[in-house]
Amino acid sequence: MSTIEFIGLTKQYKDLKAVDNLTAKVEAGRITGFLGPNGAGKSTSLRCLLGLATASSGEALIEGKPYHQLAEPLKRVGAVLDSQGFNAALTAKQNLLVICAAAGIDDSRVLPLLELVELGHAVNKRTKGYSLGMKQRLALAAALLGDPDILVLDEPANGLDPIGIAWLREFLRNLANQGKTILVSSHQLAELQHTVDDVIIVNHGKLIAAGNAKEIMAGQSLEEAFLRLIGVAA
Ligand SMILES: Nc1ncnc2c1ncn2[C@@H]1O[C@H](COP(=O)(O)OP(=O)(O)OP(=O)(O)O)[C@@H](O)[C@H]1O
Ligand SMILES: [Mg+2]
Repeated sequence: MSTIEFIGLTKQYKDLKAVDNLTAKVEAGRITGFLGPNGAGKSTSLRCLLGLATASSGEALIEGKPYHQLAEPLKRVGAVLDSQGFNAALTAKQNLLVICAAAGIDDSRVLPLLELVELGHAVNKRTKGYSLGMKQRLALAAALLGDPDILVLDEPANGLDPIGIAWLREFLRNLANQGKTILVSSHQLAELQHTVDDVIIVNHGKLIAAGNAKEIMAGQSLEEAFLRLIGVAA
């Protein structure tokens, strides 16, 4: 069974097809980059996948099911969509404890995960005082609370400095080496070029290319390959 599958997914906002008949699969145990320029429909597709937006037609499935049919969703799939969802008045630790309580997840992972994302020094700091990069790290820790096999990350490098981006690359690689499946979106093609095994490239809501990243790049950079695939000379 495929881990994540988009089957003819379409999301229409009035006259705009934000996602236009997208069909693509994500292979297990690999890092798949979900790539495309601003407004290509990446976030909308991921929101449909996670049950935060309703498809106009088609489907987005996790392990063969729509998100809302998963029995224990946080143990199946962890997501970082934006890092703004935390209670600013609570500390990082308290925020994660709240998520565990709400989802019925054992909270013994809270502190080790905060250490893992290198927020050990700030566990008792209110998230009101967190920088964007710190919130992204906290969101990653939150996504991992249920020890899910699948991670869906929308622009997780947003707000990270170059050291943070290098750290994230290593972090995602380690998770993939543990057998986790990662779907990670970005409009910064150069940034993800060295992180991904596979790519799904979209533009104007439509699939442009999908498959093994090296094969699709064919000796070019991801950015050159993208421009070639959408028919713009590099
Ligand atoms: N709630 C909404 N109502 C109307 N239009 C929307 C809505 N959400 C997204 N759109 C439009 O759908 C298109 C796709 O947006 P989306 O956010 O999915 O793109 P994206 O690929 O994530 O872009 P970025 O790289 O900038 O994050 C855009 O034209 C956007 O303006
Ligand atoms: Mg987006």
